[in-house]
Amino acid sequence: MVLPFRRAVAAVLLLRLVLGDASASSHNRDGAGRFDPTRVAHVSWHPRAFLHEGFLSDAECDHLIALARKGGLEKSMVVERKSGKSVESKARTSSGVFLTSKQDEVVAGIEERIAAWTFLPPENGEPIQVLRYENGQKYEPHFDYFSDKQNQAVGGHRIATVLMYLSNVKMGGETIFPSSEDQLTQEKDDTWSECAQLGYAVKPVKGDALLFFSLHPNATTDTNSLHGSCPVIEGEKWSATKWIHVRSFGYPKETTDDECRDENDKCPKWAAAGECAKNPEYMVGTRNSPGSCRKSCNVCGE
Ligand SMILES: *[C@@H]1O[C@H](CO)[C@@H](O)[C@H](O)[C@H]1NC(C)=O
Repeated sequence: MVLPFRRAVAAVLLLRLVLGDASASSHNRDGAGRFDPTRVAHVSWHPRAFLHEGFLSDAECDHLIALARKGGLEKSMVVERKSGKSVESKARTSSGVFLTSKQDEVVAGIEERIAAWTFLPPENGEPIQVLRYENGQKYEPHFDYFSDKQNQAVGGHRIATVLMYLSNVKMGGETIFPSSEDQLTQEKDDTWSECAQLGYAVKPVKGDALLFFSLHPNATTDTNSLHGSCPVIEGEKWSATKWIHVRSFGYPKETTDDECRDENDKCPKWAAAGECAKNPEYMVGTRNSPGSCRKSCNVCGE
């Protein structure tokens, strides 16, 4: 009778260890943020969406905002449906800037964490885009997958998006899914904006991250992934987006360093304005037909 008892004690001790660890990691906002499956909540199946509380630490959020300010925010553009060109639009009134991938240790750490959470390789991700929405600014509902061939030339369709909230917003600025089947069951009090009433909505909370998929499991486009950013009513919204493609974004790594160059002085500026993603044929190119700004687009490999 002694042995089973000992085993039971050992089991309890082990359980304590495990639980102890879990509770230590469940509040970690001032330390390094980290991927913690116990903090992930399922949001919706149509579209597939999940919310990770405290994915980023406060310090990481502030750091991304500082990098964006330093990089110089520019008026956000949208991709024209048919042509694939990027153009200004009243539907998207934020300003933003693309960081470069692995820009520094903090960014590299966040990118690794995103890969771990999404089970999608880091090289399939576009560089992180940081966005600022001021009073009244918004992004009308849209899809993250592309309808044009040109944008699919590099990395193929976007399969998933990770939206990280970098600030708390007093009122408005919710992410909204107007086609989500769960919109009818979500209860909303008057802390939600009017816009948020029109679909399943997620409040921006500093450090939280929202993951949703633009493709069905069978790899066809999911029209339920329609989403937008409600107008900010009070405060300022900062977010960071990681778009993830079905293939490696950019082109194969085998290039040598001396092949890696910009062919135009404006490349760094264009890259910062998001042209690598918006105009990949020119900026990035393919292995047989390399683009003109491969250095600034950070696609030369290591
Ligand atoms: C892919 O999956 C979606 C959602 O389940 C379904 O509506 C669609 O018909 C499927 N398409 C194919 C080609 O399997």
